[in-house]
Amino acid sequence: MNADRLARLYRWVEYAAFGRTLERCRFERLGELAEARRVLVLGEGDGRFVNRLVRENGAARVVIMESSTRMVRVAKQRLGATERVEWRMGDVLAAAWPEGPFDAVVTHFFLDCFREEEARQVVRQASERLTPGGLWVVSEFCEPEAGCRRLHARAWLGVMYLFFRWTTGLRTNRLPDWRGLLERAGFRCVARRQWRWGLVASEVWRRGKTEESREGSRML
Ligand SMILES: C[S@@+](CC[C@H](N)C(=O)[O-])C[C@H]1O[C@@H](n2cnc3c(N)ncnc32)[C@H](O)[C@@H]1O
Repeated sequence: MNADRLARLYRWVEYAAFGRTLERCRFERLGELAEARRVLVLGEGDGRFVNRLVRENGAARVVIMESSTRMVRVAKQRLGATERVEWRMGDVLAAAWPEGPFDAVVTHFFLDCFREEEARQVVRQASERLTPGGLWVVSEFCEPEAGCRRLHARAWLGVMYLFFRWTTGLRTNRLPDWRGLLERAGFRCVARRQWRWGLVASEVWRRGKTEESREGSRML
């Protein structure tokens, strides 16, 4: 996926499709990150989240992995000069990852960019760098189990995957089972809020401190 073409327009496309819903979802868990001192953000995009994070948590240091040069340019303009944010350019599937430990990992509308196997690799790499008891804050699209909510979600997801394929060359066309991947990596969901008939979710997952979680990571 190369999001360069979208970088400047990204927020406006988002507002046109979802109003302020995705923005609310992104900012929903800032309170849970208030105590985090080291945060890993994967696929930050145009900087709206990290900008709020460093303003609301004056002690956090943030490492961002992002593959789009233009997204990073837009994000840096929004953020201004700060030494608390470190940018790691490159594809998370190929680049060297930063050293842990981190208190929290954040992925907003990022896991949906990957096929199941790739998402598994991302979850494994990130969870290895998370401190025991650390948090994974995730905003993501979901496909409800059944009924009108499922049809509604499938229609939106179909349109979105087509749009991203056309504008960014995205190779996948369906959501990975990101909840299952987190569960099998030893995380458990501790907070959830949904919007748009269950299409959009903001969740907090906590990594277990027990043998159980190590078992989980070995199974990945
Ligand atoms: C759908 S956008 C989400 C952006 C933002 N997090 C948000 O809340 O809207 C996905 C972001 O992840 C980045 N990205 C996609 N695949 C990537 C990869 N393999 N490695 C690093 N960044 C990637 C894209 O450049 C883009 O900025």
